[in-house]
Amino acid sequence: MNSTLLDRYLQVRRHTAELVAPLSEEDMVVQSMPDASPAKWHMAHTTWFFETFLLAAYAPDYREFDPAFAYLFNSYYEALGPRQPRPQRGLLTRPPLARVWAYRAHVDEHMGRLLLEAPLNAELMARVELGLAHEQQHQELLLMDLLHLFSLSPLKPAYDQHWPAESAGRHGRFIPMQGGLIELGHAGDGFAFDNEGPRHTCYLQSFEISDRLVSNGEWLAFIEANGYRRAELWLADGWALSQAEQWQAPLYWQRLDGHWQAMTLRGLQTLDLDAPVTHISYYEAAAYATWADARLPSEAEWEHAAGSGLLEQLDDAAWQWTQSAYGAYPGFRPAASAIGEYNGKFMVSQMVLRGGASVTPAGHSRPSYRNFFYPAQRWMFSGLRLARDAGAVHAEAVHTEAVGRVDTPDGEFARDVIAGLSATQKRLSPKYLYDASGSELFKAICRTPEYYPTRAEIKLLKRIAPQLAAQIPAGAALIEFGSGASEKTRLLLDAAPQLAAYLPIDISESALRQAVTQLRRDYPRLEIAPQVADFSQLSRLCLATGAQARVGFFPGSTLGNFTPAESVQFLRSVRTLLGPNARFIVGVDMLKDIATLEAAYDDAEGITARFNKNLLVRINRELRGDFDPDAFDHLAQWNPQENCMEMYLVSRHEQHVQAAGQRFAFKRGERLHTECSHKYSVESFNQLAAEAGWQLGRYWLSPAPQVGLFILEN
Ligand code: AVI
Repeated sequence: MNSTLLDRYLQVRRHTAELVAPLSEEDMVVQSMPDASPAKWHMAHTTWFFETFLLAAYAPDYREFDPAFAYLFNSYYEALGPRQPRPQRGLLTRPPLARVWAYRAHVDEHMGRLLLEAPLNAELMARVELGLAHEQQHQELLLMDLLHLFSLSPLKPAYDQHWPAESAGRHGRFIPMQGGLIELGHAGDGFAFDNEGPRHTCYLQSFEISDRLVSNGEWLAFIEANGYRRAELWLADGWALSQAEQWQAPLYWQRLDGHWQAMTLRGLQTLDLDAPVTHISYYEAAAYATWADARLPSEAEWEHAAGSGLLEQLDDAAWQWTQSAYGAYPGFRPAASAIGEYNGKFMVSQMVLRGGASVTPAGHSRPSYRNFFYPAQRWMFSGLRLARDAGAVHAEAVHTEAVGRVDTPDGEFARDVIAGLSATQKRLSPKYLYDASGSELFKAICRTPEYYPTRAEIKLLKRIAPQLAAQIPAGAALIEFGSGASEKTRLLLDAAPQLAAYLPIDISESALRQAVTQLRRDYPRLEIAPQVADFSQLSRLCLATGAQARVGFFPGSTLGNFTPAESVQFLRSVRTLLGPNARFIVGVDMLKDIATLEAAYDDAEGITARFNKNLLVRINRELRGDFDPDAFDHLAQWNPQENCMEMYLVSRHEQHVQAAGQRFAFKRGERLHTECSHKYSVESFNQLAAEAGWQLGRYWLSPAPQVGLFILEN
């Protein structure tokens, strides 16, 4: 029994030594901020803990290693006297590291004797367990603190290049949980901290909880939806702090040339969109949850759901913020001695996190474990799992009932890349330009001085909104294809209060959910029925509205990105979907001088070039490609036969590239076609519409550079 405990003691102590093995002596002394401690201090403090709470208390002949250490390495125990101020732990260049190693060896030797020779009563054994759990907590702190230190280094060093990557995977699904009376807190004989008990009964309403954590990709959607700039999503304290500190992303994210990267224990890495988001404060987690039409779980909900066996990423990815303030369970009494200061005195102003993180030592956590941090802190591996009240109506529930999911089929991207890069004239569909970064870059394009279509269309829409509204029958439903944030739609909704329903269709569930939450608030009388769908697959869609008159809306010149055959097909499907007497408002870009067009697709700042090259970055990330985006040039060129602006990526030299498990050869100057953007005259657009069975009604053209809005009638 004694030797088993000694083995475990030595194993935990050895693990600390293993964790600091990759570090230089300099790495181990510096303190990057008051919240963080140097590695050397962690090594000495955990040793002081065993010396003070075990050897001094239970080994009668033990002499302390160095009387100065009680001051240097006491963390926060008031009952044990004064100590080095926390923010000044990085000033302890003395004792030298070698003496800290000697301190550890000395205490280990005496702990060995104590554990083998002394009679082990329950109190002593509980103290050893506490010392081991305490050292494990510091093992995690050591990694957190190091990451913070290295994140501030201009070299962005890797702590360990082979440190495991974060666990990536699918998005979470909400799982319904039955409410009622439940038992909360630690039960059984194993070790637990004092704050995990007493076990007690509490009542839960039924609720739903996500089976996985929020991912980096989902967080990116929040950023793209201006989540960090919308005060209404934030708690007041969080908003004030995020403004003061100019938060724009999780702590270790940075954007370089339009690409998001994150500082990790492997150094600076391309952001893995499928991995859980980490290093967020409680304030950010709460703002995200509000934006996502959800909330954070309470710690009771979390613990109850953890027992169901249905949750993934429970304790190996990121600590999960709960909405519960850290406080005492009913009946909690801290120990009267100094050890009573371990948890109890912190039970104010902090929030509970549950689970465990990738840096948590194996076997350290358990479902009743209560971690706690201040709501502003972000250097720990903190993430979030969403919850929501049972029975509430949510955007995606509406679409699921109406149409089911219409996602990009698995493997379609890989298949298209293999086919497109194997063709004699290499080409890829422009739809692949729009991953999260691509969508963000497209928004940036719309802000360039050269790219006129978005600005011109909004101006035109504002001017003609009353005339468009006059074409919309009372009680009609407006059906928008590729609605995104529904920004332009508001111009129509405001001008046409006779609309009874709005059915936005978009492939991005998060964009839809976000838009719908806002719209429901702003247009309370309008029936809003969102549908998640790829609007190029309309035959799989049915419209969930009782409204008889139907008006389609397709602004943004997106039609121009289809091939002529696809355009006719799309216009036909919309006609069938909307039915007899329907109208369809379509926005397209008009023919104009080549110089204006070529500038719009090759802006001086190079944003369109980045948008184009992002396709290669996406292939690298999603299909294990090894494209060097710098080995390709962006080319935007007018095609007078097809009347379209074409985008290409042109290989700068002869090269071979891997993607989707295949190898592809590029000659010097060889082109990969990535997009066509067709421009129309009134006649050519009329002809296209007629081929699909539509009749051209009224239309409006903006001043130069010209864009057009057309009403098609069925
Ligand atoms: C989304 N679509 C209408 C844009 C266009 O103008 O064809 C995409 C784009 N490509 C380069 N710049 C903008």
